[in-house]
Amino acid sequence: MRIVFLGPPGAGKGTQANRLMADLGVPHLSTGELLREAVRLHKPLGLQAKAFLDAGRLVPDSVVLELAEQRLRQDDCRRGWLLDGFPRTVAQAEGFDQMLQAAGGRLDMVIDVEVDRETLEARLLSRGRSDDSPELIRKRLHEYYELTRPLTDYYRQRGLLRAVSGIGTLDEVLTRIRNVLSADVQLSDRAGR
Ligand code: AP5
Ligand code: MG
Repeated sequence: MRIVFLGPPGAGKGTQANRLMADLGVPHLSTGELLREAVRLHKPLGLQAKAFLDAGRLVPDSVVLELAEQRLRQDDCRRGWLLDGFPRTVAQAEGFDQMLQAAGGRLDMVIDVEVDRETLEARLLSRGRSDDSPELIRKRLHEYYELTRPLTDYYRQRGLLRAVSGIGTLDEVLTRIRNVLSADVQLSDRAGR
């Protein structure tokens, strides 16, 4: 399975992708985690990204596209992946499409985890990651609504978007996602794909 998790900061993309990993037997890849690791390890890419992470802004597309390409080329990604936080701009989605085409692969589905702004802010404030201060939460949400939200149209037009409410308990949200996945698998079985 090749799945992208779309959704605002605090929607539960990482939490749910992590839980689904075991079901699907494919890795969960978070560009946010990869960037934080690159910063921690003082990698050149981390040096480029740090100022953006610290400011709650999106890292430049060229940096993230390179990071994603490197990671997706690794062996554990051959059978698929759960991508969390990438692509996040239309330019990234276009670059990603080219990447997939060149590798002869395709995206199965984009799961858009929907949560209202008030709930997102409350979740992030109580988590306490270094970019979970009120000011940076506001900036990250702004970046999301300006730059990432337009991707829902991009993927809707391609027939890949599946919206799932991210409100409720962790188990309730997971069940919704599993239902969406199994509905798609049944549809493609029926179509003989
Ligand atoms: P990233 O690490 O992706 O952060 P984010 O998008 O801000 O999203 P979060 O990780 O905060 O939210 P999530 O949806 O994963 O929710 P989670 O499961 O953690 O990116 C960080 C930064 O890296 C960006 O700001 C940017 O600078 C850069 N970056 C990354 N990718 C990039 C890209 N492609 N292009 C450019 N820049 C990029 O849950 C949040 C909290 O809520 C947790 O505490 C969780 O326990 C809780 N929670 C989850 N679900 C529920 C629930 N159902 N009920 C109650 N609590 C819940
Ligand atoms: Mg996350």
